[in-house]
Amino acid sequence: MDKINAAITAVGGYVPETVLTNADLEKLVDTSDEWIRTRTGIVERHILKEEGKATSDMAVRAIMPMLEKNNIDPLEIDLIICATITGDHVFPATANIVADKIGAKNAWGYDVAAACSGFLYALQTGAKFIESGTHKKVIVVGVDKMSAIIDYTDRNTCIIFGDGGGCVLLEPTKEDVGIIDAKLHSDGSGREFLVQPAGGSLMPPTHETIDARQHYVYQEGKTVFKFAVTNMADVSYDVMTRNGLTSDDVDWLVPHQANLRIIDATANRMGLDASKVLINIQKYGNTTAGTLPLLLWDFESKFKKGDNLILSVFGGGFTWGAIYVKWAY
Ligand code: UT7
Repeated sequence: MDKINAAITAVGGYVPETVLTNADLEKLVDTSDEWIRTRTGIVERHILKEEGKATSDMAVRAIMPMLEKNNIDPLEIDLIICATITGDHVFPATANIVADKIGAKNAWGYDVAAACSGFLYALQTGAKFIESGTHKKVIVVGVDKMSAIIDYTDRNTCIIFGDGGGCVLLEPTKEDVGIIDAKLHSDGSGREFLVQPAGGSLMPPTHETIDARQHYVYQEGKTVFKFAVTNMADVSYDVMTRNGLTSDDVDWLVPHQANLRIIDATANRMGLDASKVLINIQKYGNTTAGTLPLLLWDFESKFKKGDNLILSVFGGGFTWGAIYVKWAY
């Protein structure tokens, strides 16, 4: 029997309307447009301001146009995997809410919490359901409303993060395209350097945790940077070489958008020309699980069938990894 591959057959994306510029942040914390641009590459980010709207709403706004454009009835969807660390609730899972809101009544779903690496973890998981032959249409969505957990008095974090996300549809193919290889890692000893300390079972929310601002993201930027810069570069290089690819064979690097300097280090390690490196950090900042599908959404028109894409990421956990995708359309 021919091997079944999981192909990405459609992409979608969404960012909220409200834009938060570096100039806006200059009014909130002691920072400058010049510092943010040169240290991170970020110029602006989008923030979900609408009353009563949450992560699931952004997921729906990414998924529905994708399904409509491709004439897919939500009833055909078998599974929705939602990568997020800012689910609508601690439980139930946001994937369940998304399924309800889009009318995917035949789908089951669950969330994957791997911070910035969430989309790659979910993509690899989703691919396995397709490759096993048990599922025909799987939606993998990576989306975060980071503004819900960011402290806009903390210049170490508020300058980096934004809201938004994107999705892909996975379908089976017998062709030599799709999710070809994945190398994913985690190292929980890094948990203290990038963490939302309170709100979970270790430190349930109390007046004290709120007063101490422990329900917001804490990041020791320098440490995270150090781990990110080596691990994201190494894993991307490993996935490239273990699949017999040279820098000439790689058509596109799809790197997590946390810091332009981390992206540059990864591209350099792989020996890639800047023209092959996808970047949209300047307009969205770091949308956590949203960055990689937002890149696929923004640059979809550039991809050709058979193109070799290396998707790579580093994030909280620590978690990191790279996936080799052969573009299917
Ligand atoms: O996506 C999940 C994974 N996250 C990441 O990959 C993020 C990794 N980390 C980073 O991207 C960077 O560490 C940051 C962008 C967060 C910070 O950049 P940095 O170059 O590591 O800055 P730093 O923390 O070493 O600070 C350098 C200087 C310090 O001043 P002194 O001590 O040299 O006088 C900081 O106080 O810059 C100062 N600083 C700022 N100045 C203006 C720190 N943050 C700011 C700020 N505006 N927002």
